[in-house]
This record gives sequence, structure tokens and C-alpha cells, in this order.
Amino acid sequence: MSDAYTDHMTRGQSEVQRNIGYILHPSITLPDAPRIADMGTGTARFLLRIQPAYQNAVLEGYDIASDLFPPRDTLPENVTLGESDMKKPFPEHMHGKYDLVHARMLVSAMLPDDWEIAVRNLVKLLKPGGYLQWEECDFKNAEWLGSSPSSSIEKTTFIGDKFRAALDERFKHGWNTLPGLMREAGLTSINTDVAVSDRVPETRERVNTGIMNLVFTWARMMVTRGVSESTFGDSLDNLERAVNEEIKSGCYFKYNIHVALGQMAPL
Ligand SMILES: C[S@@+](CC[C@H](N)C(=O)[O-])C[C@H]1O[C@@H](n2cnc3c(N)ncnc32)[C@H](O)[C@@H]1O
Repeated sequence: MSDAYTDHMTRGQSEVQRNIGYILHPSITLPDAPRIADMGTGTARFLLRIQPAYQNAVLEGYDIASDLFPPRDTLPENVTLGESDMKKPFPEHMHGKYDLVHARMLVSAMLPDDWEIAVRNLVKLLKPGGYLQWEECDFKNAEWLGSSPSSSIEKTTFIGDKFRAALDERFKHGWNTLPGLMREAGLTSINTDVAVSDRVPETRERVNTGIMNLVFTWARMMVTRGVSESTFGDSLDNLERAVNEEIKSGCYFKYNIHVALGQMAPL
């Protein structure tokens, strides 16, 4: 799998609605003017969601690529964005400076060995008492379901399963390994939380649309790379129309969202 593929996949996922019922884990307590970093920030959605409640905070977003960053002049004054690769060590001037480091939805960009490296790099940024919160979805055990007996799920399950098989190696890790990796990297007070993606049923349609955009982006990319469209049993345009009909009939995607939270021991 090339970098271009990985990049495209990860950015597409930023549109997927996540619904865990909170933005910061309820056990987190921050000082009055915290310094917060969001790693793999994408469109900076996380920082922009918390900014109204943290107007005295220093809010920094980092991403391996800046192409999803909102224009600088649209950002609140206390939000800055920059390029950085979380799989590489951060510069020393950032070490021990953050009250909270946040990351989410990196799964498509991570190979099995990357998780440990990234966790160790992020832990180095924490002040004593600082937190690392990381959310990842378990797509490995996700299911396509019908919300009523008249829902059809056949085409959606077919393309969804192909996508899952292609990313199987990536989908096996992260959601289940982050708490242990945080512990091994020296964090204490490890907390985990698991939410179901349809905890709020009104979000189902947005979840499905986001996931299916991602799946068809992947499928079309495979075709441009020489995979025959017949692998998908039909033209992708026809298949996408059929999938949209199934979603209208009540077909939806259900998966668990795992939150891992660790704290650096206070002084
Ligand atoms: C699926 S998006 C999620 C964006 C954001 N975290 C959110 O929840 O809306 C993943 C983002 O991680 C970025 N990314 C991938 N690998 C990275 C790395 N090694 N270091 C930093 N960012 C990375 C991608 O460029 C992309 O913007």
C-alpha cells in the first residue's frame, strides 16, 4: 500500500461523524490556561470544537500534511496549525510542555509497529499530570445492519467487506492496543471507554455517508491502479447507487469507538 493511498484514506475519514457523547473525557481536569496539542489534526475540528470553552488555552494542531487546514485568517487567535509527523520524534522544545495531547482516527495511516512509536513520541510532550487522549474505531468487528425488516444490506455488505479485507492488517491494531502502549510508555491512571457508533441514532445517516464516501474513494483508487471494476461485480457508479438505496432503506454501519486515556504522573 503506497503513501498516496494511505494519505487519501486518512483524510477522507475526517468526514466520518464520531459520537462518543463528549469531546474531552470527563475525568480530565485542566489548568486555567492549558496548552493542548491535537496530533493528526486534519481540519482542526477537535480544536475548533473545544476552543469556545478554552479561550485562554494555547491550542496547537499538527498534521503530516497541511492541505486540510482551514485558512489561517479563519482560525481563532489561540489556534495555530503546523506540519509534523507523529511517527518521528518531536523537537526537544516541545517536550514536557502540554497539559493535554489528543489524537483520533489515525488507523488507516498506521502500520502495526507505528502505534508504539507514536505513543512514545506523544507521551514525551506531556507535562507532569498531563493527559493523552486517543480515540480509534474498531472497524475490524464492525457490522452492517438493517434498521427494519424491509432494509436491504446486501450490496453495502459486499463492498464494505472488500474494503475491510483490504485494510485488515491496519484495522487489527490501535483501538485494542493503545491502553497497554500508554502504560508501557509510562502513563498511569489508564482509562478506557467504549461507545457504539449509533449511540445517538440521529447520527446514523451521517456515519453511513462518511463511511461509504471513504469506501468508494478507496474502490475508485484501486480501479485507477489497475484493479478490474469487475472485481466489484458491477460498475462502481451502479454499485454506489445501489448502496445509497440500501442506506435509504435503513441499512447502517455499526462499530465501536474506543477511547484510551492516560495521565503522566503528577509531580
Ligand atoms: C482521518 S483524519 C482525522 C483527522 C482528525 N484527527 C479528526 O478526527 O477529524 C487523519 C489525519 O491524520 C493525518 N496523519 C496521518 N499520518 C500522520 C502522521 N504520521 N503524523 C501526523 N498526522 C498524520 C492525516 O494527514 C489526516 O489529516
